[in-house]
Amino acid sequence: MKLLITGTAGFIGSNLVRYLLNHVDDLQIISLDSLEYAGDKINLENIPGGIESDRHRFIHGSICDTNLIDEIATEGIDGIINLAAHTHVDRAYYHPGVFIKNNVEGVLNLLRATARFDIKRYLQISTDEVYGSTQPEHPFDEKAPLRPGNYYSSSKAAADLYIAAAINTDGIDAVIVRGTNNFGPYQFPEKVIPFFTRRIIDGETLPLYGHGQQMRDWLYVEDFCRAIWLVFTRGVCGEIYNAGAGNHTSNLELSKKLVKTLDADYGLIKHVADRPGHDFCYAVNSDKIRKLGWRPDADFDTKLTETVIWYRDNQEWVNSIMTKSSADPDDESFFEKHYRHRT
Ligand code: DAU
Repeated sequence: MKLLITGTAGFIGSNLVRYLLNHVDDLQIISLDSLEYAGDKINLENIPGGIESDRHRFIHGSICDTNLIDEIATEGIDGIINLAAHTHVDRAYYHPGVFIKNNVEGVLNLLRATARFDIKRYLQISTDEVYGSTQPEHPFDEKAPLRPGNYYSSSKAAADLYIAAAINTDGIDAVIVRGTNNFGPYQFPEKVIPFFTRRIIDGETLPLYGHGQQMRDWLYVEDFCRAIWLVFTRGVCGEIYNAGAGNHTSNLELSKKLVKTLDADYGLIKHVADRPGHDFCYAVNSDKIRKLGWRPDADFDTKLTETVIWYRDNQEWVNSIMTKSSADPDDESFFEKHYRHRT
C-alpha cells in the first residue's frame, strides 16, 4: 500500500511515520511537509531506514499547492492521511488567516484530489476542541454539535464540515479522528508540556494562564498513532471517531508534576493574564473507537516523566528546533508579543 501522509515533519506526523514503519509491513510512505516554523526534518532523522528509503520518501511542499498534490496523486496512491495543520491556539489569535489557508483551503485541496484521482480513502486528523468546552463528567460523543471556541478550533471544525460535503457531493471515502491533547517526544516547545519543561530547565517562570484550573485530557502520542491507523484500516466510511485517554489534569496540577519531575522550585509557577476565550475543558466519549478495538495503553504519570526526561536529555533537538523558528521574523515577534511582556 502506498500512502501520502502530510505534516510528517511535525510532532504527531513524525511519530506516526515512525510508528507505521515499525509496525506495518508492505507500506510505502510519501511524506509531505511545508517545513514551516514547527516542522523540521530533524524529527524524521531516526525513522527506520532513514528519510529516503524504499519505504519512505520526503517531499518539501504544501497541501495548498494543487499542482504538487496532483503530481503526487498521478503516480498512484491508495490513501491520504492528513496531519498538516497550523495547530497552536495562541498563534491563531494573532494570525487567523494562516489557519484558514492551511487548515481549511489545504484540506479542500486534498479532498478534491481524492475525488479527482479516485483515491480509496482520506483520513483527517481533527480535534476534541471542535465540540467546545465542557466538564469531564459531560463528555461529547461524535454526534454532539460543533461549538468551537477559538480561531484554531473553528478552522478545524470548518475542515470537518468540508469533509462531510466532499463525501456527500463527490462520493469520496473519508473518515475523521478527533483526538485529545497529545504529548510525547518531538512536540514543538510552544505547547504547554515541552514549553514549561524547557523553561524549568532554563530556570525561567512558567506562565500559567489565569487561575490554572482549566483541564486537558492527556493522550500519549503513540496511543493516538494506533488510533489513527485503526480508523484508517477499519473505520467505516463517513464516520467520525473520538479518541480520548481519560487523563484529565488541571494545568496547575500538570505544572506541579513537571516541576517535581525536574526537582525544581514550585515558586517558578506564575499566574499570568488568561488566554482570550480560553476553553475550560475538553472531554470526549471514546466508546465508538473502543468498539473498533482501541484503548490507550500508556500510564499517564509514567509517560509524562519519560517525556520530560526526553526533553531534558535532548537539549540539542530543543535548541535546533527553536533556533530555526526564531530565525523566522514572524515567529520571533510571536514570542515577543506573547510572552516577554505578559504579566
Ligand atoms: O485538545 C487538542 C488540542 O490540544 C489540539 O487540537 C491543539 O492543536 C493543541 O495545540 C492543544 O490545544 P491546547 O490549547 O489545549 O494546548 P496548549 O499546549 O497550547 O495548552 C494546554 C493548556 O495549557 C491550555 O489550557 C492553556 C495552558 N497554557 C498553555 C501555554 C502555552 C498555559 O497556561 N500557559 C502557556 O504558556
